[in-house]
Amino acid sequence: MTFDFDTPIPRADTDSQKWQKYAGRDILPLWVADMDFACAPAILAALHRRVDHGLFGYARPVQSTTDAVVAAMESRYGWRVDPAWIVWLPGLVVGLNVTAQAFADPGDEVLTLSPVYPPFMTAPKNSARVSVQVPFVLTAGAWTIDWDALERAVTPRTRLFYLCNPHNPLARVWRRAELARLADFCARHDLVLCSDEIHCDLILDSALPHVPTALLSPEIAARTVTLMAPSKTYNIPGLGTSFALIPDAARRARFVRAASGIVAEVNNLGYAACESAYRDCEPWRQALLAYLRGNRDYLVDTVARALPGIHVEAPIEATYLAWLNVSALGLADPIAHFERHGVGLSDGAFFGSPNGRHVRLNFGCTRATLAEALRRMKAALPPGR
Ligand SMILES: Cc1ncc(COP(=O)(O)O)c(C=O)c1O
Repeated sequence: MTFDFDTPIPRADTDSQKWQKYAGRDILPLWVADMDFACAPAILAALHRRVDHGLFGYARPVQSTTDAVVAAMESRYGWRVDPAWIVWLPGLVVGLNVTAQAFADPGDEVLTLSPVYPPFMTAPKNSARVSVQVPFVLTAGAWTIDWDALERAVTPRTRLFYLCNPHNPLARVWRRAELARLADFCARHDLVLCSDEIHCDLILDSALPHVPTALLSPEIAARTVTLMAPSKTYNIPGLGTSFALIPDAARRARFVRAASGIVAEVNNLGYAACESAYRDCEPWRQALLAYLRGNRDYLVDTVARALPGIHVEAPIEATYLAWLNVSALGLADPIAHFERHGVGLSDGAFFGSPNGRHVRLNFGCTRATLAEALRRMKAALPPGR
């Protein structure tokens, strides 16, 4: 079966956050992380079947939904997940917030590596915990961890470490040795490790496996909260269906207690879509990855050839998000500048990068949209470029 990622589906005047932001303006929205592709036919069929049933009472996953998650973890990563570890959640940001409340007290510190998806920095602050960020360093064309800075950042109040695996916005797939060193770091400092793996099924470099952090050893599994979802890969974030995998029973109980009465339950349609995504959609996912690789290659090539002053600093190994260094353009506000030229990007400053240095571009769109966006960005280059 072939899948069509090229035919545009109009999203203006729909309930899309991504498109509403620029309603009525000729700005291509390449910001928030959802894709402009319809989801897999199998998911649509599952949703139609669920709607046709006609009842939408309080939901609980049926056995086949749990089985689909467990089977996907085993077949993709060799990770044998006990169904008892699963805590269903309406979103991963919820999971980050609950983790902070469950495993740190007010005033305690939550470490992370920046730049990073903004809720990694805001979730601790939402409940009076303190976010501490250690900057990545660019070494020989790869984003790497400054291990000495990480050690120095630990204080008697550090309780938690948030990891983005693979990384948004750096599009980096962490190697087993790096994860092992991070796991050792968390064990030595007795930190709970929260591993956000929402992008794990979007690895573009087929030579790089996704290694679930908790798979490294039973000891690290016992201190890990893994957050996952079918949402990014299968383009169903609006259906609000995610889960935490927490092997340690006492930690799981703490997490569930912190979420209790605050976190809404997952809905009927989300469960139906999730089951189909993990069980029925592998051919669609492989076709998507091939299309995204094509977009990634087109983007990297075009930026290098035709957009002087804009740099892809490191390989884009995963995700559909490109982290672009625009500092050579000398723009005080790159986002406003590119918006004036018809392209809506995400501001690197929200991710912890210095003002004006980076923008993030979402290439989860048709090739034609990407080509037009890059054409507009070229036209936006300051004179002399
Ligand atoms: C690393 C990461 N975590 C979480 C999310 C959002 O998750 P959710 O929509 O389930 O809250 C995103 C969205 O871009 C993300 O990139």
